[in-house]
Amino acid sequence: MEARTVDYSRTTITELMIPSFANFSGKVHGGLLLSLMDKVAYVCASKHSGAYCVTVSVDGVEFKEPVEVGELVSLSASINYVGNSSMIVGIRVVSLKPKTGIEKHTNSCYFTMVAKNDDGSLMTVPRLILESNDDMRRFYDGKILKKMRRQISQVLDREIKDVTEQAMIDSLAEDRCDVAYEREKL
Ligand SMILES: CC(C)(COP(=O)(O)OP(=O)(O)OC[C@H]1O[C@@H](n2cnc3c(N)ncnc32)[C@H](O)[C@@H]1OP(=O)(O)O)[C@@H](O)C(=O)NCCC(=O)NCCS
Repeated sequence: MEARTVDYSRTTITELMIPSFANFSGKVHGGLLLSLMDKVAYVCASKHSGAYCVTVSVDGVEFKEPVEVGELVSLSASINYVGNSSMIVGIRVVSLKPKTGIEKHTNSCYFTMVAKNDDGSLMTVPRLILESNDDMRRFYDGKILKKMRRQISQVLDREIKDVTEQAMIDSLAEDRCDVAYEREKL
């Protein structure tokens, strides 16, 4: 399959924040922004792979600044890393107040998308052509992120199974919770 550049699939979507997107104080719901991020990640990953893609995981979503009704939100996505069937899409979210022209960077995050064939099996995606030092640095960071994500999944699975109820209660002694249920006698 022919290798593709980062520019080939670079995608930006822009959306005006209207009142139905917001809560009672005029701040846009985080879930609405997540949905837009998912949309732009899908388009970017589909362009690169030429296939149907699914979202597998999301990393680094933090809302650093509130987004308000009347602002114009732009989400720019590009492929940072490709594995065999997976792609890490980097997304930068910027919100602009049209009246003042003031822009704020509200969030950057990473969506891992996997390409699938029509029968649902995993599809091998095209290699990525790295045309600049930035492309190369992002690919390198993506490789580290993929490795860390796998480790996090493994640790979470193992710890939840291995930790006893008493060990959990002991480790929560300094936390702001009260264990208020009757424990089963062993
Ligand atoms: C993602 C999915 C395809 C993984 O299937 P699997 O049989 O476990 O396949 P693998 O373990 O071979 O993983 C396939 C790829 O996904 C990546 N992957 C799997 N789990 C992952 C995770 N939690 N985070 C990041 N990447 C992950 C693997 O690293 C691998 O990448 P590579 O092919 O580039 O090396 C499968 O779990 C799936 O279809 N999930 C549902 C996705 C979906 O429907 N999303 C929409 C939500 S409504």
